[in-house]
Parts: sequence; C-alpha cells; structure tokens
Amino acid sequence: MSTVYLELAERIAREAGEMLLAKRPARPEVLATKSSPTDVVTALDRAAEELIRTRIKEARPDDAILGEEGGATGDGRVRWIVDPIDGTVNFLYGLPEWSVSIAVEVDGEVVAGVVDVVPRGEVFTAAKGEGAWLAGERLRCNTGVPLDQALIATGFGYDPGRRAVQAEVLAHVVPRVRDIRRGGSAASDLCAVAAGRVDGYYERGPQYWDYAAGGLVAAESGARVGGMHGKPYNPGLTLCAAPGLFEALHDLLAPLDPERDA
Ligand code: IPD
Repeated sequence: MSTVYLELAERIAREAGEMLLAKRPARPEVLATKSSPTDVVTALDRAAEELIRTRIKEARPDDAILGEEGGATGDGRVRWIVDPIDGTVNFLYGLPEWSVSIAVEVDGEVVAGVVDVVPRGEVFTAAKGEGAWLAGERLRCNTGVPLDQALIATGFGYDPGRRAVQAEVLAHVVPRVRDIRRGGSAASDLCAVAAGRVDGYYERGPQYWDYAAGGLVAAESGARVGGMHGKPYNPGLTLCAAPGLFEALHDLLAPLDPERDA
C-alpha cells in the first residue's frame, strides 16, 4: 500500500519541481515574511503548494493535507505533509540546495516520503519497511563512525532567540566533531545522512513538513531519527544518525538543556 502512495507522491513532487525550475526567475522576489523578517515566502512557494494540493485532491479527494504555506485541511485517515520548497532562502539566492518534500501518513504514521532535490535532479524516496532509494540504488547510512570523526549537518530556525541558542549549541559541538555542514534544507540534510554524504544531523525545532519525508528516507537507510531523552522529534531537538553515533550526539547535546523552549 505504501508504494501506491509513494508513486503518487513522487509523480506530484516531480511535477512541482519541474514547474519550479521552469518558472524560477533569475532573481525571485520575497512576497511576504512569516515568523520573522528572515522567514521568507516567494510567489512560487505558494504556486507549488497550490499545484501539489490540486493534484492530491484530484487523485484522493478525501485525504487531509498539512502544507507549509496553506496549513491543515481535511481530516481523513490519510494525511499528506507538504513542503513545496524546503530551503526557500537557497531558492531565493539560486543556491542548488532546495527540495520539494512530500510525505504520506496513514493513521499518524509516515509510510511514504519523497524529497526531490530539484536543482541536482536527485529524487530520494522511501516506503515504510521497504527501504530508501536514490536513482535505483538502495541507500544505507554510514555506520561505526565515532563522534570525533563525524561530519554533522545542522540547520537554524528563523526566530532570533532560537538562533542565539543554536549558536551556543554549535559552539559546543564544533570542537568535538570532524566538521559541520549547514546546507539550508532540512529535508535534503536528512537524505544526505541516508546517502552517507554526512554522518549525522541535528537541529532544534525543524517543522514537521521539513522532516516528515526526509526522516523516513533516513530511517529506511538504517539511521535512527528521534528527539532527546527518547521523545519523538517534534517539537524538540531532532537528531539523526546511525545507532551508536545517534547516542553519542544525544549525550553531547544533553548537557545544554535541549528541552528548554528556545
Ligand atoms: C528551513 C530549512 C532549513 C532549516 C530550517 C527550515 P524552509 O525550511 O529546512 O534548512 O534549518 O529550520 O525552516 O523555511 O526553507 O522551508
């Protein structure tokens, strides 16, 4: 059943990605700001979500949808989690690291996920229990990497207070790992863990639409995805790495009181 959802999600993500590539102006304009002046939305974020919603409704009119731009609609057992452009700031600047992210939940559990990293032409897919894939290759995350040799991806929210805390956490982490990468798309970061391009990822408070699809891709590659102290990843600190490195990262972050609401 998951594969039926996955096929539809992939078709829709690819169509939205093609539209975005075709219509992206040389210099997209900021249409509005959201939670802070750095949290921007372009006309194409909205157009892509509209296209995705239309295609979902055509195929599955009874399903619910949660989208970054349009919020929550419907109340079916099946819910689509949509980020039309994850990495909007990269999209704005023409950096090649933004993605269309679509996940499908059944009864609250994510069963299918697609992350189309459009500028790179890479479409990551995963179905619950059936693995994570890129271009016909099964993905396996890196295993057995000690913390001090781990390349770790992270991201920052838009709220200035949260960013200040994230900077403190970063200062604690940088001297204890191989290095840090800040790609600008949480969905793509999670897929990078799955593909072994980084060893792990952490971020305080990515939104559900940022990680729902990428989280399944990472989990299906063998990574552990979760929050601190055994909690689910939202709304606290989200961690992702192979078992072993996950726990080491957890223990590194734990003394910084990561449960505080910032
Ligand atoms: C953002 C990106 C970024 C992450 C932020 C997200 P958006 O999503 O995923 O990498 O650090 O937390 O909000 O706003 O570009 O969809």
